[in-house]
Amino acid sequence: MKYLLFACTLFGAFLAFVLRTPVPEGLGEPWKYRLLIATMSLQALSARIRAYFQPDNPHAYIQALRSIRDLTNQPSPSEIKGSNIRSKVTTFDGVRVRLYEPIKKEDSLQPALIFIHGGGNALGSPDGYDRLTRLIAERLNVVVVSIDYRLSPEHLFPAGHLDCLRATSWFLRNADQDFSVDTSRVAISGDSAGGHLSATVSQAIHDDQTLPNLKLQILIYPVTQSLDLLTPSYQKYDQDFGDEGVLPRKRVAAFTSMHHLGRSDPLYMQQILSNEHIIEEFRLNSPYLRYVDHDVIPTELRKETRLYLPPRQGPGNESLWNQIKGTYLDPRWSPLLREDLSGLPQAFVTTCGFDSIRDDGIFYAKRLEAAGVKTKWKHYPSAFHGVMFLSNFFWFQVGEEMTKDMVEFIQNNI
Ligand SMILES: *[C@@H]1O[C@H](CO)[C@@H](O)[C@H](O)[C@H]1NC(C)=O
Repeated sequence: MKYLLFACTLFGAFLAFVLRTPVPEGLGEPWKYRLLIATMSLQALSARIRAYFQPDNPHAYIQALRSIRDLTNQPSPSEIKGSNIRSKVTTFDGVRVRLYEPIKKEDSLQPALIFIHGGGNALGSPDGYDRLTRLIAERLNVVVVSIDYRLSPEHLFPAGHLDCLRATSWFLRNADQDFSVDTSRVAISGDSAGGHLSATVSQAIHDDQTLPNLKLQILIYPVTQSLDLLTPSYQKYDQDFGDEGVLPRKRVAAFTSMHHLGRSDPLYMQQILSNEHIIEEFRLNSPYLRYVDHDVIPTELRKETRLYLPPRQGPGNESLWNQIKGTYLDPRWSPLLREDLSGLPQAFVTTCGFDSIRDDGIFYAKRLEAAGVKTKWKHYPSAFHGVMFLSNFFWFQVGEEMTKDMVEFIQNNI
């Protein structure tokens, strides 16, 4: 009887979440989306309850959320009947990776793919992404390396970047001998925070004269900057979803705060959300704000923000600015702000119609192109942030299309 009551309560909560999820017009497969968001809300609620009983652990909520997601994100077995891909966990120069390798190898050296998972630098794991990375390895029939980098709030910037860089560098130095990989044909890819890391690692590898350049970078709805949290796409997200959905502005600010300070600091979050972290002097005298110029966003996309507000012009908070500028202007934090983007790997950037950070991807794609990097940008109007991979149970048509486009881009250009 007790269990029945519990199950009914749980089901009731789920139903309530399903029904209150806002779904803007034009978003693909709305009912599947509702179920996904309800599942995520239920996971978050369970994590809050678990964290409530650990008042002394400042990271209790995020850790509870990770372990709840781990329950449903178990990796597939190492070998699967009928598949030519075998997977295992190993380390590259001390960094844990999940490695996918063809069982029957080709005679010649083959290309390879480095994959960096998303999750706001705080969530996600190679195991949780196993279904996607295995699928890509199977379709390409090449080595895929999925990096298990350190996450915040336990590990602050630039720990995650350094892990990804270390594993990638080791791979580029050793993969010809160890895995029969042609190290001049290695692509890097990731979604969301993983797209951000793919961009920063591409830049760092480019600057290391002892390593071959990466051949391709596939940036799936990446984060590229924290100077402007009121771009047209951030504003559109507020209008479409408010604080709901996959990536409300508040959640971006919380991830940013955890990555930078190791905690979600309400004042810090509130100030970056209103762009008070940028002081007037910097706005007027530096080239950086040209990189987040709203006019770069195509008019038809800008028009989707119904009540568009031009960038805020206040004096800004000088003491906050002094606290953050060293980090925010570091290209490892904001790859968009690197001055010279020439010579970086050929790029494929994808963006979604329902994504607060849509414009981050567009800004970066436009700058790459202007710097002479061969760049393809594809916008998926009906897609939402995370559509390519958020759960082992919900797969969306447009996410499948994005995966297919990514695989084809690699096949055609590697
Ligand atoms: C400016 O930022 C600092 C550091 O975050 C904070 O302590 C201070 O209260 C802020 N000042 C105002 C006027 O918001």
